[in-house]
Amino acid sequence: MLSWEDFDQEETLSKQAESPTGQSSAGKLVREQPQQESLENVDLDSKKEHSRQIQQAITDLESLDISTGMEELEGSAVRVKVDDKRMINCRADLNQIVPFKYDWAWQKYLDGCANHWMPQEVNMNADIALWKDPNGLTEDERLIVKRNLGFFSTADSLVANNLVLAIYRLVTNPECRQYILRQAFEEAIHTHAYQYCIESLAMDEGEIFNMYHEIPSVAKKAAWGLKYTRSISDPNFKTGTTETDQELLRNLIAFYCCLEGIFFYCGFTQILSMGRRNKMTGTSEQFQYILRDESMHLNFGIDMINQIKLENPELWTDEMKEQATQMILQATQLEIEYARDTMPRGVLGMNAAMMEEYLEFIANRRLVQIGLPEQFDGVSNPFPWMSEIMDLRKEKNFFETRVIEYQTGGALSWD
Ligand SMILES: [Fe+2]
Ligand SMILES: [Fe+2]
Repeated sequence: MLSWEDFDQEETLSKQAESPTGQSSAGKLVREQPQQESLENVDLDSKKEHSRQIQQAITDLESLDISTGMEELEGSAVRVKVDDKRMINCRADLNQIVPFKYDWAWQKYLDGCANHWMPQEVNMNADIALWKDPNGLTEDERLIVKRNLGFFSTADSLVANNLVLAIYRLVTNPECRQYILRQAFEEAIHTHAYQYCIESLAMDEGEIFNMYHEIPSVAKKAAWGLKYTRSISDPNFKTGTTETDQELLRNLIAFYCCLEGIFFYCGFTQILSMGRRNKMTGTSEQFQYILRDESMHLNFGIDMINQIKLENPELWTDEMKEQATQMILQATQLEIEYARDTMPRGVLGMNAAMMEEYLEFIANRRLVQIGLPEQFDGVSNPFPWMSEIMDLRKEKNFFETRVIEYQTGGALSWD
């Protein structure tokens, strides 16, 4: 901790060093005088150099042209009006966050901040004991924990990279960018949470973090996502044509609706089910906090997609609708494969067939959320307890409850 006494002491010591007059031996004073003179010379030289540097800085600033650089910021000389703002290809100054046009984006930014949490706040002791106990979990349950930590530990990094290296630059609205920055930090917290679980459980880090290369059901999901970020993360990629705007729209559908909106759901359901059965409660709590954040990421992405469609109706062609439908269907199939791979047998009161129906139910919701017709007839939700968390009304209630509990340091409840 900082103490003012230390500062006072330092000052006294340095004053003694500067002035040797306190010495009791006169002879010592005589011997030290030449040294003192040379020290004064050095001091004088460094003072001269210092004032030369300051003068240089002032001279350079006098010749600063304030229009340089600003020219690159389109529309920067004009005050921004709400009507100037657009989701993509906007020419208004992006450094002026107000006046707000998209209140939903700013509200999500505020809600995200109110939901702030850190992985170290979750107690992992019960998980460590259970994981170490050879009879604590079945092999099938262990497989679920490992696979999900393997998938998520790298998936959130892919999402974060896509945000900061691709879409941040291309979404030309400051309130949306503000939320994207918040989301990017939340993705960092999620990666931290998975790393924290992996470290707490003393897992083989190489095995877990490399799973997205080694395990086909994990690798396929990662590769599918990467396909949609490759072209738009090229620094030379620009929106502004129907083709490139559609490319960005495909990326948003891939990352928000498919990756965060479908690829996370088998794993979330499995780990949350484990927590409800009083197993791996710390890991489950981490996942529940993550799920709360992810629900908001998904809703933000859907709002962005729909707003872009509204402002650029020419992008939402029949071909684009067909592509978007195909993307959601492909993501659903990949997640079904993942469910089969992670659940070779029934486990935790669920099995791959039930998960398949759940994923089809989720896929129908994603399609409807972006204005497309459902593709799976007669499917219902086999996990109503997940639906309670996901349901919009309950979801809002869930957030409100959690915000209050978080601020008073309360624990998550499974009710
Ligand atoms: Fe995340
Ligand atoms: Fe996310």
